[in-house]
Parts: sequence; C-alpha cells; structure tokens
Amino acid sequence: MGRFAYVNHRFVRHGEAAVHIEDRGYQFADGVYEVWAVFEGKLSDSAGHFARLHRSLRELRIPEPMSEAALKVVLAETVRRNGVRDGLVYLQVTRGVAPRDHAFPDPAPAPAIVITAKSVDLEAAERRAELGAAVITQPENRWGRCDIKTVSLLPNVLAKQAAREAGAVEAWYVDELGLVTEGASSNAWIVDQAGVLRTRDVQANILRGVTRASLLELAAEMNVAFEERPFTPEEAKGAREAFITGAGTLVLPIVRIDGANVGDGTPGPVAKRLRRIYIDHARRGAD
Ligand SMILES: Cc1ncc(COP(=O)(O)O)c(C=O)c1O
Repeated sequence: MGRFAYVNHRFVRHGEAAVHIEDRGYQFADGVYEVWAVFEGKLSDSAGHFARLHRSLRELRIPEPMSEAALKVVLAETVRRNGVRDGLVYLQVTRGVAPRDHAFPDPAPAPAIVITAKSVDLEAAERRAELGAAVITQPENRWGRCDIKTVSLLPNVLAKQAAREAGAVEAWYVDELGLVTEGASSNAWIVDQAGVLRTRDVQANILRGVTRASLLELAAEMNVAFEERPFTPEEAKGAREAFITGAGTLVLPIVRIDGANVGDGTPGPVAKRLRRIYIDHARRGAD
C-alpha cells in the first residue's frame, strides 16, 4: 500500500506532496501541529489533542482550517489510506502562503494544512520499554511559550541530536533554577524516594502533554500518590524510578540520566504498571 498525505484539502502521493515556498510555516515556523497515537485505526486521547490544537491556533491567531468534525473525517481517512493500524497521525496548520513579511499578512490567507500518518511497530516499542531508555540533560534554551505546540522546534532538534550522539533517546531541559522542565518531545516524571509520582506543574513553561493529563487522571483513579512539583536532575538520578510520556513514546521507563543509573538501572514497577494502564486506557478510549 502506498503512502498518502493530505495537503491543502487534497490527498496526494506522499512522495509528490509539496507546499508553497512562501508558506509561512516554511519561512517563519508560523504554525502549529498535533500528533495522535493511533490504535487499531482509531485516534487515542482524541479530545485532549483537539482541545490543545484549538488553543494553539487561538494563541497564535491562526484561523481554524476546518471544523473539528471535518478534521476528524480527514484524519481518519489519512489513517485509512495509509493502512495504519497502530501508529501516529501528524497534523500541521500554518498561517498560510503570503509574500514574505514578518507581520501577519492582511488580508489573512487561508491556513495551510498537512496531515500524514505512519505505522509504528508496537512489538519493537514494547521491547524498548522493557529495556528502558537513557536521557541526557541540556540547558533550557527555548522561548517563553512552550505551552503552544508550534512547529518552531530548532532547540528541540538540537537537544535531540545531542541525546542521540550520547546514546540517549531524549534530552531533559533544565531551567535556570536547576529544575527539569520537560523533554524535547515528552514530559518528564520520577517516582521519588518517598514513592511519590512527580511531574512538573503546567504553570511552568512546558507543553501541557495530553498523555501527561490522562496519566494523572489514571493515577488519581488508582490512588497512586502524585504531586505536580518540579525536580532537579540530581533528585531524578537518586529517584526510585523515572519515565517519560508522550503520544509517540506513551509511557517509556528511563533507566539512565547523564550516564548514571536510576535505581538498579532497569525499568521500575510503577512505570511498567502505568505504561500498561495507559495503553489500555488509550486503546479503550480511541475513537
Ligand atoms: C515538548 C513536548 N513536551 C511534551 C510532549 C508530550 O505531549 P503529548 O503527551 O500531548 O504527546 C511533547 C509531544 O510531542 C512535546 O513535544
């Protein structure tokens, strides 16, 4: 089965998909995106991702490209045309095409929209989760609006590359107070020495992860003690457990931070349990 992309209201072959050279996403990173995990062809945590998409667009004053109902249809159709059973669907909306000028074009162009979908090997992901993964820390160097899911991701690109070169899957940003903010494409969590699940509060300059929010609800339902409170890299290295969350990684145990083992260097019981429970929730709630 070939790959297809949805580009400005048409399905085209992935290899031939293109946008205009004066798309403001290309020139200014003037756009937003969303990523949904797909289970059995359905979108997981779909309402949370739609809510964040609407908010990101509103914050940047980019018009909605189409109604949510219409978006759901084209997202589902992109998943179907690409034969994705388990995987990811990516949506990007930019302010559109206009002669290059930093301020918003007037009149406003139609927003430009791109949707792609790809399959993920769930068994390989499961094997990786069983081994656990490594993170490194990096100084926080992003702008002050990380709550908006923009395609302006150059600091994240550089942090991820540093992680890759260090044999890690993720980079955790550390702010000027010495506290972990989040990962380059995930939220950061620990189970501290008191056994309390901890992740940074969303008043901080971080993305309000949809997986993060669902996992906090699940933790509350399971009576797992948690606190939305930041931690330092040292606390994380000395924690019982660590893990990251995101639509791409779901819940992924972290077993090394800057080369130091977390706990005994193997995935912890809480992270493993939360991964199972989150995946069950994501599958059951997918629509
Ligand atoms: C910077 C950042 N933080 C956190 C997340 C996790 O968000 P979500 O759980 O909504 O995928 C992402 C996901 O892409 C991200 O890019």
